[in-house]
Amino acid sequence: MTKGRHIAVLMGGWSAEREVSLVSGKAVSKALGEIGFRVSEIDVQRDIAAVLARIKPDVAFNALHGRWGEDGAIQGLLEILNIPYTHSGVLASAVAMDKPVAKHLFAGVGIPCAEGRVLSRDELLQEEPMARPFVVKPLNEGSSVGVHIVQPGDNWDLSDAPSRVLVERYIPGREIQVAVMDGRALGAIEIRPKSGFYDYAAKYTAGLAVHVMPAPLAAKAYDRVLDYAERAHHVLGCRGVTRTDFRYHEAADEFYILETNTQPGMTPLSLVPEIAAHKGISFADLVAWLVDDAGVQR
Ligand SMILES: Nc1ncnc2c1ncn2[C@@H]1O[C@H](COP(=O)(O)OP(=O)(O)O)[C@@H](O)[C@H]1O
Ligand SMILES: [Mg+2]
Repeated sequence: MTKGRHIAVLMGGWSAEREVSLVSGKAVSKALGEIGFRVSEIDVQRDIAAVLARIKPDVAFNALHGRWGEDGAIQGLLEILNIPYTHSGVLASAVAMDKPVAKHLFAGVGIPCAEGRVLSRDELLQEEPMARPFVVKPLNEGSSVGVHIVQPGDNWDLSDAPSRVLVERYIPGREIQVAVMDGRALGAIEIRPKSGFYDYAAKYTAGLAVHVMPAPLAAKAYDRVLDYAERAHHVLGCRGVTRTDFRYHEAADEFYILETNTQPGMTPLSLVPEIAAHKGISFADLVAWLVDDAGVQR
């Protein structure tokens, strides 16, 4: 069944996370090839519909990150082409990508969210949105692209901010992320950036952040964050594997959800493969399972 099936690994694209996606895609493609799949690596461009129509893969492995690849756009195209694809479908992808919309759903199933609101750049320029420190982020990017933590005394520059942003209360504390596979949480990992916050450099440069797996939390807290991640995955209607990011405010013993990633990274430094490995699921097992789990709406 596996051997010889033709898998198109979709990677690259033109989002802000293009480079990360190329690394994820290469790692996935290598593993799928070693298992025995026939693999086509596709650097996704605007002609992707024509490319897929020509090569006619059995399954599209979606290794894209960021806009167009993670927000329902490519998923919609794959639905129309009737090519089964990995990870979440159109609606779950679109909703998860829009942080303010996703927060409404998370709050509805009892997951604590950082207080926040959506403001235009003009509104932000006119007045301080809340007491500092606060966080300003794009509504729909990933990899910490465009995320700014505004501390008291900072002179922050909004010149390259998008026209609308999400402003959130800064949650002091620890960085905890949970992988969910097939609807069940696999485990929680803690990330400790060596300096500053968990920004783009800390995410993708070896040695800039320490990963602690499993996250050293009291058993009750560990179970609670796993439960929150499962609820987030379910309320969004996700498929495949997701990774949900939290801040753990230790003094208050409370987790605040930041977001659910429907296309979590598959690079050698990525967290979902590390969490899965701790559960005894190798990278090869993970990508093979994702291929088996691929689908289209029936
Ligand atoms: N409300 C917040 N309080 C504290 N830190 C935050 C907050 N929001 C984001 N951050 C920091 O920014 C990082 C990226 O934010 P996140 O919302 O996960 O967006 P992205 O999609 O870019 O990963 C987080 O991992 C965390 O370190
Ligand atoms: Mg994140």
